[in-house]
Amino acid sequence: MAVDLLLGLQWGDEGKGKIVDVLTKNYDIIARFQGGPNAGHTLEFDGIKHVLHTIPSGIFHKNALNVVGNGVVIDPVIFKKELDALKKFELDIKSILLISRKAHLILPTHRLLDAASEASKGKAKIGSTLKGIGPTYMDKTGRNGMRIGDLELSDWKEKYRALANKHEAMIDFYDVDIQYDLKDLEKEFCAAVEELKELTFIDSEEYLYQAQKKGKKILAEGAQGSLLDIDFGTYPYVTSSNTTAAGACTGLGVAPNQIGDVKGIFKAYATRVGSGPFPTELFDEDGETMGRVGNEFGATTGRPRRCGWLDLVALRYAVQINGVTELMMMKGDVLSGFKRLKVATAYTYKGTEITHLPYNIEDENVTPIYKQMNGWAEDLTKMTKVEQFPKALNEYIAFLEKELEVPIKIVSVGPDRTQTIHR
Ligand code: IMP
Repeated sequence: MAVDLLLGLQWGDEGKGKIVDVLTKNYDIIARFQGGPNAGHTLEFDGIKHVLHTIPSGIFHKNALNVVGNGVVIDPVIFKKELDALKKFELDIKSILLISRKAHLILPTHRLLDAASEASKGKAKIGSTLKGIGPTYMDKTGRNGMRIGDLELSDWKEKYRALANKHEAMIDFYDVDIQYDLKDLEKEFCAAVEELKELTFIDSEEYLYQAQKKGKKILAEGAQGSLLDIDFGTYPYVTSSNTTAAGACTGLGVAPNQIGDVKGIFKAYATRVGSGPFPTELFDEDGETMGRVGNEFGATTGRPRRCGWLDLVALRYAVQINGVTELMMMKGDVLSGFKRLKVATAYTYKGTEITHLPYNIEDENVTPIYKQMNGWAEDLTKMTKVEQFPKALNEYIAFLEKELEVPIKIVSVGPDRTQTIHR
């Protein structure tokens, strides 16, 4: 039985949370495979808006189990806040949320190190969410990290102390002005760890293997987006995990030949938070309109997102790297009212026209080449079936399908679960 993947194809914030929530009725298990609380997956249903950071987006459905995989990094303090926010929904968390023993822990000093590292970079800063993601993955690959499974050992606090001491020395090394009271942070951390230990820890790769053998349907939920992938994104302005399809294999222990559908999500336009190249970024009224109508503010940090036209060079690259088999277009409703739309189909790169993503897409290297398309005036948010779509929207969709050579199976016309149109 195959494991399906659901991935963001741009710079994150495509709407993965909403679509996982919509699709969960078809699955037995939803499994997060990378990233950490830098993610903010927003779900809206029954008049409620809820943001998840580490917990998989299937958590509100009675039919599904939710697994936090080994590739995820967990901050017990943020996790506790997420659990607290879920209390009002009266879910039986201990039985529906399972955590991999191999997932790594974000320590308070990882967050401080993130802040120190960013402060030391000055203008070259990544624009990190400062949740300690980079330093935690550095400790993972440096073979120093602490894992969830360590919390089951009696000496976990000693291990913690040794690592935190090392981090403090590193923070001093950065020689930047970071104010903190580690005693308070540690108190909060230890209390949160005790709560985390009440949850169910599993050997998730074995669990998922057995689930597959029993014919259970599994959906792997990605975080961030393909252009933030540590290998294939716009390095160094990326996150610290593999956000692309291969990350699901390493982040869950799923063999490549067990991957089924690869569902790729993109916005009908493009956004980015934090620093880094963004060839189709708009600095005019159109960009301002996208941000305002699309409510483009980070779900985790509240930062305004940069907005721009859809970039098919970047999207084609993401479809290719991930082996996307079906597409989902989000926020088409935000483009209602634009008389003309633009879509980048190629770049001018060092004087030559190219259609693939080059090594470096800094502004000085690439200039997008746009195709202009007709916009539509109709409000899409109340539409429930494709037959209601305006002609210009159908043309926009058909053009993207032709360029990307993958069908668009879902068009989302608003943030609520119900505003989802299947094609
Ligand atoms: P970090 O992973 O928090 O260190 O952030 C690195 C870069 O990835 C920054 O540009 C962030 O804004 C961006 N980023 C991290 N997580 C997300 C996300 O969930 N959505 C959008 N951008 C993100």
